[in-house]
Formats: sequence, C-alpha cells, structure tokens
Amino acid sequence: ALLDVRPKPLAGRKIIVTSGPTHEPIDPVRYIANRSSGKQGHAIAAALARLGADVRLVSGPVGIADPAEVTTLHVETANEMKDAVEQLLPADAAVFVAAVADWRSETSAGEKIKKVAGKGPPALQMIENPDILAGVGHHRKRPSLVVGFAAETQDLVKNAEAKLAKKGADFIVANDVSHDSGTGSSGVMGGDRNKVRIVSKAGVDEWPEMSKDEVATRLAALIAERLKTIIV
Ligand code: CTP
Ligand code: CA
Repeated sequence: ALLDVRPKPLAGRKIIVTSGPTHEPIDPVRYIANRSSGKQGHAIAAALARLGADVRLVSGPVGIADPAEVTTLHVETANEMKDAVEQLLPADAAVFVAAVADWRSETSAGEKIKKVAGKGPPALQMIENPDILAGVGHHRKRPSLVVGFAAETQDLVKNAEAKLAKKGADFIVANDVSHDSGTGSSGVMGGDRNKVRIVSKAGVDEWPEMSKDEVATRLAALIAERLKTIIV
C-alpha cells in the first residue's frame, strides 16, 4: 500500500464528542427518548479521527455502528453521559452533539408499572437533567475549545447566542429544525443532510445545506484551525 503522507493536523490532540439521544427510564421496560439518530455526532467523531485526533465518543443508544478509529463509550442516561464525559477530562476540545433528554422521571420503578382497573394512568414527576455542556464549559478542567449544538424551531441566532454565553462555549452550531419531519430522510433528526450556522463571539457564519458528512469534515477542519493557534 502507498504510504499516506498527508498532514494530520490533530495528531496528539484528545477530543471528546457526545452523540445520539439519551434514554431516561420510567420502569425496567419503558423510557423517555427523542428522535436523534447520532448520525451528525458520529460523523464528527470520524472526521476528527481522520485528521489524527485521539477521539473519545460518548454515545447514547443509536442504531448505527461505532466510527472507525474512534474509542466509543456507550451510555444510556444523561447522568451516565455526564459522568463518562467528566471522567475523560482533561481534553484539548469537546464537541457536544448529543440530544440529551432535558428531563427525566424523578423515580424509575423497580418493577414494570401495571395497569390497575379504576386507577388511571401513572403521573410522572419530571425533574431536569444536568447540562453536560454547561458543566464542561465552566469546568476547572475546561478544554481550550468547547463546541455545542443548538436545535431550534424559532429565533435561531438569538437562541444560539444565548446558549453560547450561558454554557461557556466557543462555538454553537445552530440547526433550524422547524421543518423537520423527525424520521424523514431530509430532516435533521433522522436524515443525512444538515443546514447550520456557526455562532461565536465573532459573529454568525451561515453554511450552505450539505450532507452531515460534509458538515462534519468542515467542522473538523475549523476545530483543527482553531486548535493550531492554541498552545497548551
Ligand atoms: N446539552 C447538554 N446537556 C443537556 C442539554 C443540552 O450537554 N442536559 C447540550 C447539547 O448537546 C447541545 C447544547 O447543549 O450541544 C444545546 O442543546 P439544546 O437542547 O439545543 O439546548 P438546551 O439548553 O437543552 O435548551 P432547550 O432544549 O430548551 O432549547
Ligand atoms: Ca434541550
């Protein structure tokens, strides 16, 4: 085989990526989840690895394969994802692509919840999950570069700018999911294409619609460019 002599700009860089949904249990057989496929996060992990990074992917339950050349950790819940990410610190960069469930049921029943005649459906008491990105964005071991995503159906840039500040991120990759079908082939949550804006303190950069693999390749190049100027 020919020797690949192309430069690997992320060689020696450790990068954490989160991807997929989380599953929040209600009882041993039921959970709360969302439609995230993990395609965009996994593609970003693969693209960073192609540039030579030591990628640690923390994935929720997805139906796609672990990316090549990436160390993948599998988790179920938001709390498990948070613990896995914090265990992986320190890192040079972290990219939060996972669609973490915002809420979980406060309790998970030890046994399957049964229908009881005359009692009606169970009332689930929901509590908020920890914000994994915000925790890392404000961590004492904060990576030099922290990238978040934002799925919005309205006020895309305004909401992304608010998340940038609140979560301590350097970039927010903002997705408009207002016309998302959820499971269709064009929608962000299940499809293969994506249209994003890169929101940072420097302003808003609008990228044309492209495949999720192309978004991943371009984002990996942007991360490599930014890390080049950061001496650790
Ligand atoms: N995120 C996270 N942990 C959470 C919620 C979100 O790490 N508990 C991360 C996501 O991975 C993403 C970013 O935060 O990178 C924004 O997620 P999003 O759902 O758009 O924002 P929220 O802060 O949850 O606000 P809302 O869903 O109300 O818009
Ligand atoms: Ca959310």
